[in-house]
Amino acid sequence: MPGDRAVDCTAGNGHDTLFLLKQTAPGGFVHAFDIQASAIEKTRKRLEKAGIPPSCYNLIQDCHSHIAEHVQPGIAACMFNLGYLPGASHEITTEPYTVMKALDSAIDLLKSQGIITVVMYPGHEAGRHEMELLLEFVRSIDEKRCRVMHLLNVNTAKISPSILVLQKL
Ligand SMILES: C[S@@+](CC[C@H](N)C(=O)[O-])C[C@H]1O[C@@H](n2cnc3c(N)ncnc32)[C@H](O)[C@@H]1O
Repeated sequence: MPGDRAVDCTAGNGHDTLFLLKQTAPGGFVHAFDIQASAIEKTRKRLEKAGIPPSCYNLIQDCHSHIAEHVQPGIAACMFNLGYLPGASHEITTEPYTVMKALDSAIDLLKSQGIITVVMYPGHEAGRHEMELLLEFVRSIDEKRCRVMHLLNVNTAKISPSILVLQKL
């Protein structure tokens, strides 16, 4: 919504950061995290090309598990798009335990009715393992703290990405 603050926990090529900036304009602000300098630069270039004023965003080269050190409470949305940076090394990828730590902090930072989305890729072994651990984690979240939904395709031959949606109560 216009004026909201939002967080992209996995900036990558910046598509989701730009999406969040468009959703929160005018008057909004987006924090975007990535551990890779190249991802931060790709995101910066995408936002510059789109004409987004630098005063509307903060690009942070740090692990998303440190989100609470950079972001004030009251955010409306937080996105995770797991896995590796397309076109870069597959060795540098999200890790389930840092994602869990980031999710736990992000829930605390959300305002009431705020949303977290997590896109997971179970089509390969590491992604399937990551999804299983994250599902175990979100099932343990107190239902009074936040509502958790899991979206997945059920009529596709190929294993497709699946999405967690968490809503703060
Ligand atoms: C699938 S890509 C994200 C795509 C991106 N959202 C976009 O719109 O292009 C996943 C990204 O997560 C980043 N990443 C991996 N571990 C991370 C961590 N602990 N903290 C922050 N970013 C991380 C990777 O460097 C990679 O750029």
